[in-house]
Order: sequence, then C-alpha cells, then structure tokens
Amino acid sequence: MGAGREMEVSLDAVRDKNMMQLKKLNTAIFPVRYNDKYYADALSSGDFSKLAYFSDICVGAIACRLEKVEGGTVRAYIMTLGVLAPYRGLGIGTKLLSHVLDLCAKQNISEIYLHVQTNNDDAIAFYKKYGFEITETIQNYYVNITPPDCYVLTKAISGTAPKK
Ligand code: ACO
Repeated sequence: MGAGREMEVSLDAVRDKNMMQLKKLNTAIFPVRYNDKYYADALSSGDFSKLAYFSDICVGAIACRLEKVEGGTVRAYIMTLGVLAPYRGLGIGTKLLSHVLDLCAKQNISEIYLHVQTNNDDAIAFYKKYGFEITETIQNYYVNITPPDCYVLTKAISGTAPKK
C-alpha cells in the first residue's frame, strides 16, 4: 500500500461522547447487533478501541476487549474491525489493526484472536496477510446469520509491531 493513501486518515479514542459513531458504523457494516456489554468493553479497553477518520468523516473502527487468562497474562480479542465499503482498500483496516498489534507488542500481550464468519473471504484474506491463522472452527456460533459457523483466527505476538 502506498504511504500516500494513509495520509488523510487519523485515529481517535472511543469515548462516551462519540460512542454513537461506533454504533452507526456497526449498523452500517455488520449484520449483528451489539449489546451494552460490547460498548462497555470497547470503552474499558482504552487505546485498544479506535475510530478512524478520513478527513472529518468517521469511516472505520476497531473495538477490542482485553481478557485475563490463566497465569495472570492478558490476551486481546478483536470484537469488530470494519471500514465503510466505499473506503475499503485504502489501508484504513491495516492502520487500525497495526495500531492494536503495536499496542499488544508494547504491553507484552502475547496473543490476539477474533471470530469471523466462515464465508467472509475478504476479512479472512486480510487477517491472514497480517499473520493470523485459523486455529478453530465453531459450528453454529452465530444465531441469526447464515452461515452460522465461524473460524477463530489467532496470532501470536512476537514483540515486534508490523510494518504500517
Ligand atoms: N480481498 C482480498 N484481500 C483483501 C481484501 C479483499 N476484499 N481487502 C483487504 N485485503 C487484503 C489485501 O492484501 C490488502 O492489501 P493491498 O490493498 O495492498 O492489496 C490488505 O488486506 C489491506 O487492506 P486494507 O485496505 O488495509 O483493508 P480495508 O481498509 O479494506 O479493511 C476489512 C479490511 C476491515 C476486512 C474491510 O474489508 C471490512 O470492513 N470488511 C467488512 C467488515 C468485516 O468483515 N470485518 C471483519 C469481520 S471479523 C471481525 O470484525 C472480528
């Protein structure tokens, strides 16, 4: 991706004040409705959830949850990563994901994972490009969408942030 494509994109924190932006994006991008816990988790993840602005327009977001695992370590779960259709292919998804992978490396988070619908070839190709691997297939993970199955995509964090 050319560096020029990223020039006009900036990231902003998710806060109470702009939560409506995240809600609107999710409604436009995803077939799933997210509950209050999703938004509370996004808020409490701090820098791990970000809105992406192309000039002044909110066009994408990443929302993460931080999970404590056995042994006292923390892993990151990407609840959603989405970019409005007209703004895809411009490097915005990469910018959002790179930001979070960078934070994981800095905070010694050793693993990041997510669920993706098994027919979402674009997203699977995107995540594989950045080193995620399919580690599990879960049948009937989703309730109201077809296919109902998902893959778990996982990436071990080596301590080195990816190239932007
Ligand atoms: N087909 C194949 N490869 C793709 C595609 C695609 N449609 N889109 C991105 N890629 C790969 C390419 O290798 C691309 O690099 P290139 O442009 O140099 O060829 C690379 O990913 C980076 O692409 P970006 O432009 O950074 O990605 P984009 O801003 O388009 O965002 C995203 C990718 C977030 C997956 C976007 O397509 C999207 O919002 N999809 C709809 C929502 C969605 O399905 N989100 C993921 C669901 S899973 C979850 O949220 C946990």
